[in-house]
Amino acid sequence: MAVFSKFLVHLNPKMWLVGDLSPPLSVPTVLSTFIICILGFYIFKWLSGDGNVPIRDSSKNHSWIPIKIASKAWYCSICESFLINGIGVYCDCCGVCADPECVKKANVKLQCKAITSNNEKQLHHWVKGNLPLGAVCCLCNEDCSMEPGLIDYQCCWCQRTVHTSCLSKLPQDCDFGPFRNMIVPPWCVQVARRKGALNKHLLLRGVKDPGWKNWTPLVVVANKKSGNNDGAVVLSEFRKYLNPVQVVDLSSRKPAAALQWAVLLAPKEVWMLVGGGDGTVAWMLTASHKLDLDPEPPLAIVPLGTGNDLSRVLGWGRENPPELDVGEILRNMQEARVAQLDRWKVEITSSRHLGLRIPNKTLYMYNYIGIGVDAQVALNFHKTRDSLFYVFSSRIFNKILYLCFGTQQVVTSVCKNLEQKLEVYLDGKQIDLPELESIVILNIPSWGAGVNLWGLLGNTFGRPSQSYHDGILEVLGIYSSFHIAQLQMGLSTPVKLGQAKTVEVRLKAKSPIQIDGEPWEQHPCMLKVTLVNKCPVLINQTRN
Ligand SMILES: *[C@@H]1O[C@H](CO)[C@@H](O)[C@H](O)[C@H]1NC(C)=O
Ligand SMILES: *[C@@H]1O[C@H](CO)[C@@H](O)[C@H](O)[C@H]1NC(C)=O
Ligand SMILES: *[C@@H]1O[C@H](CO)[C@@H](O)[C@H](O)[C@H]1NC(C)=O
Ligand SMILES: [Zn+2]
Ligand SMILES: [Zn+2]
Ligand SMILES: [Zn+2]
Ligand SMILES: [Zn+2]
Repeated sequence: MAVFSKFLVHLNPKMWLVGDLSPPLSVPTVLSTFIICILGFYIFKWLSGDGNVPIRDSSKNHSWIPIKIASKAWYCSICESFLINGIGVYCDCCGVCADPECVKKANVKLQCKAITSNNEKQLHHWVKGNLPLGAVCCLCNEDCSMEPGLIDYQCCWCQRTVHTSCLSKLPQDCDFGPFRNMIVPPWCVQVARRKGALNKHLLLRGVKDPGWKNWTPLVVVANKKSGNNDGAVVLSEFRKYLNPVQVVDLSSRKPAAALQWAVLLAPKEVWMLVGGGDGTVAWMLTASHKLDLDPEPPLAIVPLGTGNDLSRVLGWGRENPPELDVGEILRNMQEARVAQLDRWKVEITSSRHLGLRIPNKTLYMYNYIGIGVDAQVALNFHKTRDSLFYVFSSRIFNKILYLCFGTQQVVTSVCKNLEQKLEVYLDGKQIDLPELESIVILNIPSWGAGVNLWGLLGNTFGRPSQSYHDGILEVLGIYSSFHIAQLQMGLSTPVKLGQAKTVEVRLKAKSPIQIDGEPWEQHPCMLKVTLVNKCPVLINQTRN
């Protein structure tokens, strides 16, 4: 019975939007079947752990990560000793630091940044020592940390730094500092405690609006396990500036878990910041569409990895900078403008293959679709990425790999005479194709890591300009993989095929396809691209 009542608690209409499970559709006539269904569903839900979003219990321990050696001198927050060779850990939420011997003591003695609280009055949460380089006292404006040792303080909410001697002269109340309009204060986070098989979990149950002027909470998502550790750095750095619950790791949670914030706060608007490549961004945008959120959260990007065409177009940069400056990103976001990006639906209806009926697919596109040699390049690259070889490679090495695949002979033979393998219809009218190896359908003015293909055509008379919110696609052809290399260096122009509101491609033979950088081998099919709606995105309009 306890299980049953718990299930009823979970049975709120919003939940169906969030979980990946569909509701048990048919109501069985036999009561026992009904109960078994409920039990099965509940157990499955419990196992999959989705729906209600589990969060870290910050009252138990700190969020320890190893210290980066080269950065600065570190002192243990417990025994105050200098960490020789930087061997130790620090908490990426509150900044407490510990040598291996003192970790357990630090968990018990030093409170981490509180995720939730019952008290509307927020005091500064001062953490002693290990201030950032160049820290200045907020009271007397003199430099902090002028002597070695665990000295001076920083508040882990407002990020203010202060001398030990000046601390008593400061007011105790914390105003959350310059990024207050993006922070969810602890008293607004409602959690529930749930008993699991092994231990207790905290679940995010609700979020209150603090009623502050211009308050638009920010939710940050990235994948901790993404290449080169970049995703982990993004997650860590933002935990320090925001309430750690606002930061969601996509390696352990689905996009829907991050978007739960938008569900809980509706009709209040939430902003998203996605750390990742074009694929991750598209994944979030599509999840947001499938949840039918109202309002849909506008999204900004911290570009990670290669490509990043959408990030370039929206002004968030082409690759992640070596040092992530969270303060700058948050300031730029405060000045950002919301724009509308066309969201395209790609319906793929397959013909019979070897007598088998292949299910139809519906995908979504935000950047571009490639059919032919460019998709083959991406496919080869992905295959390498799955291999052990890739794991040991650095970012620069990846770029070299990308270049190599672009000029491989094997690529050419696969896609030769693509024009004979497909038919292209723009707004229902079939167009003539010259001899080519790739068809590109563009939504945004950036392709293949920053190439403005349509722009390369130059100012030919009567050519309408390209825009990502005009409901029109640009269709172009590419001759060969060598032609791709030439285009990337701006040494050639692509083949102009036209612009259209609806693009249909009849694929008559197996061919590689990519949508927003995700490639696969596609069997003969009909591919139809139509506008669905527009999704809000954030434009960095800061000028330097
Ligand atoms: C908290 O600390 C304990 C022991 O120090 C550890 O076993 C546990 O995994 C930690 N929990 C988290 C969420 O880091
Ligand atoms: C925003 O745009 C400015 C000007 O181009 C640039 O300097 C800055 O780095 C951008 N911000 C981010 C977070 O990419
Ligand atoms: C795929 O879609 C087409 C046209 O909408 C339809 O005729 C066909 O039956 C569908 N195939 C499957 C397997 O659903
Ligand atoms: Zn110590
Ligand atoms: Zn901590
Ligand atoms: Zn403070
Ligand atoms: Zn001072």
